Amino acid sequence: MSVNVAVLVGSLRRDSLNRKLADALAALAPSSLRLEPVAIGALPLYNPDLDGDSPPAEWARFRAAIQASDAVLFVTPEYNRSLPAALKNAIDVGSRPTGRSVWARKPCAIATASPGGIGGFGANHHLRQSLVFLDMPALQQPEAYIGGADKLFDAAGGIASESTRTFLTGFMEAFARWIERTRA
Ligand code: FNR
Repeated sequence: MSVNVAVLVGSLRRDSLNRKLADALAALAPSSLRLEPVAIGALPLYNPDLDGDSPPAEWARFRAAIQASDAVLFVTPEYNRSLPAALKNAIDVGSRPTGRSVWARKPCAIATASPGGIGGFGANHHLRQSLVFLDMPALQQPEAYIGGADKLFDAAGGIASESTRTFLTGFMEAFARWIERTRA
């Protein structure tokens, strides 16, 4: 059975390394997973005052896209040792109105990438803090902190290093097993 995975990329940058990583993960994923990018860049900043009977259309579309997915893959850079505001905003938008969060019980996995050596560890774990409150079962192992991300890709956008490709393939296989287990 095919599983729909919403992919949220925390960077809005045109040449984002994390977007390239998300594309590479989609290419390495088991065929049971269908990865669908869900855009977060045009979501108005979350404001409860706007969240009445007719919330912004961008919020409604985003919530529906997450609702329709079976699982979520977060791929994000680290900004100032935390997650980018655009991704936090998307999480906040999806979490409301109270009692109607689109996140609850959706299995998820997180990959963070940075040109720096610690691979977005701070963003990865700040994100995990929200996932606990949102009741999203998050893949624990393997952890994916991808350092040196500016040297990660070959000219075709594939993962240049064979050992990293093997690691990321294993990460997506573990995610597929995790989704299966949590949905059972
Ligand atoms: C960064 N960058 C960064 N890198 C890191 O490893 N730890 C950090 O705390 C930060 N902080 C930070 C803040 C802001 C506002 C920016 C714009 C950048 C560098 C960042 O990892 C680098 O620009 C990546 O290339 C961003 O990811 P994308 O856009 O390539 O996916």
